[in-house]
Amino acid sequence: MNNNYKSVPVNSSEITPYSQYLSRREFLKAAGLLGGSALLAACAPGVAATVLPGEEASESPVEVKFDELGDPTTAYEDITHYNNYYEFSAGKEAVASLSKDFNTNPWTVEVYGLVKQPKTYGIEDLLGKFTQEERIYRLRCVEAWSMVIPWTGFTLSSILNEVEPTSDAQFVRFETVYRPEEMQGQGNSLFTWPYQEGLRLDEAMNNLTILATGLYGEPLPNQNGAPIRLVVPWKYGFKSIKAITKIELVAETPSTLWHTASSREYGFYSNVNPERPHPRWSQASERRIGELNRRPTLMFNGYAEQVAGMYAGMDLIENY
Ligand code: MTE
Repeated sequence: MNNNYKSVPVNSSEITPYSQYLSRREFLKAAGLLGGSALLAACAPGVAATVLPGEEASESPVEVKFDELGDPTTAYEDITHYNNYYEFSAGKEAVASLSKDFNTNPWTVEVYGLVKQPKTYGIEDLLGKFTQEERIYRLRCVEAWSMVIPWTGFTLSSILNEVEPTSDAQFVRFETVYRPEEMQGQGNSLFTWPYQEGLRLDEAMNNLTILATGLYGEPLPNQNGAPIRLVVPWKYGFKSIKAITKIELVAETPSTLWHTASSREYGFYSNVNPERPHPRWSQASERRIGELNRRPTLMFNGYAEQVAGMYAGMDLIENY
């Protein structure tokens, strides 16, 4: 195992000490930035999404929590109004309103392929059967912005253990629902729909890999992938596929939407790696939504201690 990467153990469900508690709204108030300030609207898009001129921030954000590096969770408003979800729109700010009427009830997830016990779960079975826990994770988008998100969900391994992968299963393939009548972006012929993603089986079984069903203690909003989406925090955000209906265990590397669209830019692994630039931009730093200054990007998004061992001996520039 390569121990050269900087990271710290995850202890995401720690209760936030009261002394550290400070809502972002209170912070903005204290800084004199709330209440019709045009300053924020003129900044980067993620910041502008919070408060528009002449408008107060919404009351929805909840208590700020902190990740294990001591960074605060991103405001609820930003997490839910700055979204990548090409099934609805390529415009981040448009996704929340365009996905408002998306129907997530009833919902089933089929788990099949190279397994001994294939199963189709109703979303209510998954919520009832597997203990939902909170995981506060950094989300690092390949576009070089990031957030800290308090997800609720359960480990992907708990579902995979139930269906019992056979010895031939090497990869897991995920598929988003295909409903072009409800998801106008699925008419976009630049992409091969439905959205697909994949993980190696050991990555899928890693304790950090979860299926999320909520955020900030509330059910997952449509724009964030309701009713169930993958979260793989050491990989670029596009691996964390939304609105999953199929999970298939397979023997070969699955094809993925972004790799199919542009293989030179988006590899199968897509581990966060500040040393491997995207062909069109650097990945050495990132803009944390809600902050003004850029910050350095951490190898494996700061989760090296938990995941670097899975890639021992691999050339991570070649295997991007
Ligand atoms: N899943 C689907 N089905 N469709 C998408 O367009 N976008 C991905 C990922 N999952 C996407 C998706 C990208 S590029 C990112 S960065 C994250 O979702 C964004 O998740 P968020 O909107 O919850 O922050």
